[in-house]
Amino acid sequence: MCGIIGYVGKKKALPILIEGLKALEYRGYDSAGIAYLKNNTIEMVKSIGRISNLEEKVIETEDSYMGIGHTRWATHGKPTENNAHPHHVGKITLVHNGIIENYKELKEECLAKGYTFQSDTDTEVAAAMIDMVYREEKDMQKTLQKINKILEGSYALGILCEDDTDTLYAVRKDSPLIVGTSTTGNYIASDVPAIIKETKVYYLLEPNEIAEIKESEIHFYKEGKEIEKEKKEYEGDASVRDKMGYAHFMLKEMHEETDVIQNTLQAFPTFDASLTSYKKIQIVSCGSAFHAGLVAKSLFEKYAKVPVEVTIASEYRYAPFLTEKNTLVIGVSQSGETADTLAALKLAKENGIDTLGIVNVKESSIAREVDKVIYTVAGPEIAVATTKAYLAQVTTLSLLALSLAYEKDNITKEEYDTIMHDFSLLPTKVKELLNKNYKEIAEKIYQKEDIFYLGRGVDYALAMEGSLKLKEISYIHAEAYAAGELKHGTISLIEKGTPVISVITDTNLKEKIVSNNKEVHARGAYILVITNTDIPEESYDLKIELPEGNPFTNPVLAVVPMQMLGYEVALLRKCDIDKPKNLAKSVTVE
Ligand code: F6R
Repeated sequence: MCGIIGYVGKKKALPILIEGLKALEYRGYDSAGIAYLKNNTIEMVKSIGRISNLEEKVIETEDSYMGIGHTRWATHGKPTENNAHPHHVGKITLVHNGIIENYKELKEECLAKGYTFQSDTDTEVAAAMIDMVYREEKDMQKTLQKINKILEGSYALGILCEDDTDTLYAVRKDSPLIVGTSTTGNYIASDVPAIIKETKVYYLLEPNEIAEIKESEIHFYKEGKEIEKEKKEYEGDASVRDKMGYAHFMLKEMHEETDVIQNTLQAFPTFDASLTSYKKIQIVSCGSAFHAGLVAKSLFEKYAKVPVEVTIASEYRYAPFLTEKNTLVIGVSQSGETADTLAALKLAKENGIDTLGIVNVKESSIAREVDKVIYTVAGPEIAVATTKAYLAQVTTLSLLALSLAYEKDNITKEEYDTIMHDFSLLPTKVKELLNKNYKEIAEKIYQKEDIFYLGRGVDYALAMEGSLKLKEISYIHAEAYAAGELKHGTISLIEKGTPVISVITDTNLKEKIVSNNKEVHARGAYILVITNTDIPEESYDLKIELPEGNPFTNPVLAVVPMQMLGYEVALLRKCDIDKPKNLAKSVTVE
């Protein structure tokens, strides 16, 4: 969600900015723009739609060695060129990620001082405010110090000032920003992969810190004082930006799932979290991470006998805070930057509740906020729709539930060993599932407008993820229902040929869901079951047979075909699979 790139150095800036913007595409955006210094003047180019539209307008060979770029995911105002960043006011040009919450009051103040506005954005107001303060202070460092106290909300800003033609400024609060460095120049970016082709060495800008960046020096300031910062080195390499021969990042990432499971099993002995002292667990997360939490709930409750509440983070943060001591709040997040999940965890912490993060991106805001963190080892995920990171979340949480069940003597050593053995077989089984032919099944459903997913117990949680995967990338309306709930309303939507995808891994609930399937079958539904249990042939039209599993490994097995099916359906519908419309990878605003 919004991406920032900036460069000052010895190389020509425009190719670096365009390359950086392309690398940030995965975060989700609907317009893009750059500003660069040429002959001591700031030039701007903006465009709506894809980066390729911007690229057509830009002459990459321009003699420019400093500039900033931005991908915008519209919040204040439509995706138009006027609203696209950078915004230029007076001596200031800037790009912004986040939301300035008090922009209306600030806009009034600026209007009263004679500023006028060309866009609907909060960002242009921030630019005007910085210009106003700069005209008093005549020093960017002091200006940004003041600005940190004036702007409310979340922001990462990359700034050019007309009077400092050799310096790029950056400041942040809550929205992420890194400062990269190499022998040929220095950079700002929303994440390291955006500059991975230039450098792996970076500094992590902390809230309210100011970076003053020149061709061969970087200075950091906090509260008016210069500070030293530790250099970090990114562990990944440029291959994270390469599809490695796959048609889409989503397909590549699904094929990485076998390695993800392997890596998670290897990391398991190092998990630093015994949960025995907690009477209750609350899981806060969004989207697929919320669905991973629901899978975990079923395992923690059934085997570790600990009550678990799973709450959508955006609901948790505004609900009355009733969490009792001896509760552990677990935040699950791939990006580690999801604004609502971060806020929910902050709220828990402020109230003296222990927090644990299950996070994929190292040193992300959530990872640094929580008391303890367990990193999922999915590696960087580029496709907007999560696949391997969700799988890593489910595997990690299942292993935690298993280990708690064992620590509490709810399962024997023998049972524990058998389940762990099953986990070790998962990579081979997942590979087998990935290699099945889903195209034929996709052909049967890709022209439908409504598809229902059914499940009971843990299978309902899995159905929710299957339905999300399909709808977000194929734009087919898909709904997941707890199978027992159908006849309380939804069954009226079933017509002849309506696809119903039914997940059945819980043998205890098998008979119940088979009856529900028969009910919709009798009303004309076309039933596809995803199962590793024996079910009567007359209760379905088509079956995806899952390899044998146990309650801890079944969720992983069941979700893989649903991810692949979503992919194949989206492919047949010619959708932009890696960058679905309106969606952002990292949801840094609420
Ligand atoms: C769906 C998807 C989203 C994310 C959600 C949370 O495929 O990717 O639903 O799961 O936005 O994101 P993270 O895990 O980064 O907090």
